[in-house]
Amino acid sequence: MARIFIVGSGVVGSATGKGFLRAGHEVTFVDVARPRLDHLRSQGLDAHEMLDLRGEPDAFIFLTLPTPNVGNGYDLSAFKDGTAAVGRALADTTAAHVVVVRSTVPPGTTEGVVKPLLEKESGRTAGEDFTIAGNPEFLRAASAVEDFRHPWMTVIASRSARTRERLAGLLAPFGGEIRLFTDPAEAEFVKCAHNIYNATKISFWNEMWLVSRSLGLDLDPIAQTVARSAEASYNPDYGIRGGSPYGGVCLPKDTRGFLGLAEAIGVDMPLLEAVVKVNDLLAGESAPEPDELSVEAA
Ligand SMILES: NC(=O)c1ccc[n+]([C@@H]2O[C@H](COP(=O)([O-])OP(=O)(O)OC[C@H]3O[C@@H](n4cnc5c(N)ncnc54)[C@H](O)[C@@H]3O)[C@@H](O)[C@H]2O)c1
Repeated sequence: MARIFIVGSGVVGSATGKGFLRAGHEVTFVDVARPRLDHLRSQGLDAHEMLDLRGEPDAFIFLTLPTPNVGNGYDLSAFKDGTAAVGRALADTTAAHVVVVRSTVPPGTTEGVVKPLLEKESGRTAGEDFTIAGNPEFLRAASAVEDFRHPWMTVIASRSARTRERLAGLLAPFGGEIRLFTDPAEAEFVKCAHNIYNATKISFWNEMWLVSRSLGLDLDPIAQTVARSAEASYNPDYGIRGGSPYGGVCLPKDTRGFLGLAEAIGVDMPLLEAVVKVNDLLAGESAPEPDELSVEAA
């Protein structure tokens, strides 16, 4: 049984903590919002305004703090405040705690922001007195508790092999595939790319919907068919190698051809324009010979 602290007990924090509780671990929730604490306590949960590690054995401290955007950028102020408070709590302990970044953060945050902040506030050294790790959350808000209990993918990152092992031991019983990384920035990148990929697919089909609506066509049966015909949709390994622009005949022809069709019927396709632009950029950068171009579809 592990000792677990959840710092930031909102959607992700409470799903995480409740999942660990059900698995038999000892969990304490921390949050700065009084209504949130009242709500957790009303459910019989151990919830506090401050993290207190005095007298605690080695624990996992999960940072599930908010990381909203402000325009084009992340606002890490609440995340940093909560992390600094964890650093101050680490000053009061000699146990070898593991601080786990579970929030979605821009790549580089765990080692560029969390590590120096914890060291500054605690007067202790990461990698010696405590360790840091990344473990991004993939749950969906609508089914948060269930998704935590039955993950399909668990990503763990730490420079410390022992910490990777300990976290894998804690999370493996929930099932799903476990992927280990040494560099926390790679795990942070995974989570950002995961969300951006989902967003891109949704925008892709919305853009197609605008064209189909303009042509008087029902998108649903079209999209459902393409979801099974297009290799990019059904083959997870297709098209994921960076630095390889598409080429051949069909993809360049039909992307540009369809842009002309859209223009003729007065529908903007900024995503398709961007697809062509990115490909041109990469083709220029790698300047491959035509017969070396990697991705071809009939
Ligand atoms: N909601 C989702 O579906 C989801 C899924 C995966 C990942 N994430 C990521 O998880 C992180 C948390 O998201 P969320 O949806 O749970 O946010 P949330 O707003 O529901 O919860 C954050 C909690 O942190 C508390 N908090 C703020 N400052 C604090 C501090 N200094 N100390 C302690 N607690 C503090 C807030 O009061 C709030 O209860 C974000 O990085 C988010 O991007 C969210």
